[in-house]
Amino acid sequence: MALRIDIITVLPELLESPLSHSIMQRARDKNLLHVETHQLRDYALGERRQVDDYQYGGGAGMVMTCEPLAECIDHLQSQRDYDEIIYVTPDGNRFDQKIANRFSLTQNLIIICGHYKGIDERIRQTYVTQEISIGDYVLSGGELAAAVIVDAVGRLLPGVLGDSTSALTDSHQDGLLAPPVYTRPAVWRDQEVPAVLQSGNFKLIEEWRTKQALKRTQERRPDLLEDG
Ligand code: ADE
Repeated sequence: MALRIDIITVLPELLESPLSHSIMQRARDKNLLHVETHQLRDYALGERRQVDDYQYGGGAGMVMTCEPLAECIDHLQSQRDYDEIIYVTPDGNRFDQKIANRFSLTQNLIIICGHYKGIDERIRQTYVTQEISIGDYVLSGGELAAAVIVDAVGRLLPGVLGDSTSALTDSHQDGLLAPPVYTRPAVWRDQEVPAVLQSGNFKLIEEWRTKQALKRTQERRPDLLEDG
């Protein structure tokens, strides 16, 4: 079953390139991932097709208005049921592999990209089911965050990656960072690939990888081991 993601944005151009190459394009070519961008201004009235306005209470920065967003979401919802309506925002829940896995099991998602100071709180209250941040920093808009989510989720869809096991051995997929990897040559600038990886003994190789993954996680992200 394919995953459909509708992205509401004032800058669809920003999403074109990241979603049109490599694994994302392959997922789309195979009809496993269907991504549609929607220009929010097409749902705005008036000659200027304005989608933002001054914020009540004063303060710097504009706020995206209710009506164009509501029109666009209503239009999409009249066509299909959505599992989640996601708003990407720095004050959302931190995106992680667990959330990516969960989204990869859905069928229809909407992602709303904010700009300026964000979207009117009433849209969040009325429509949004998930508020997601990709990290503790502020981007100029939600588009790059949306691209990150689509990429992380899209590559998990069955059939997207050539080697069906490779997503399972990614960092974070089992709660640990991935172990070091090597390729040919066996010796490069006097540095040799660990002998165990060249041994052909898969049991020993698995044990080594697990140990290295734990060591790396302990050193770099001990918080992952504490989260349980
Ligand atoms: N929009 C702006 N900054 C963001 C962030 N860190 N995560 C998600 N959406 C954003």
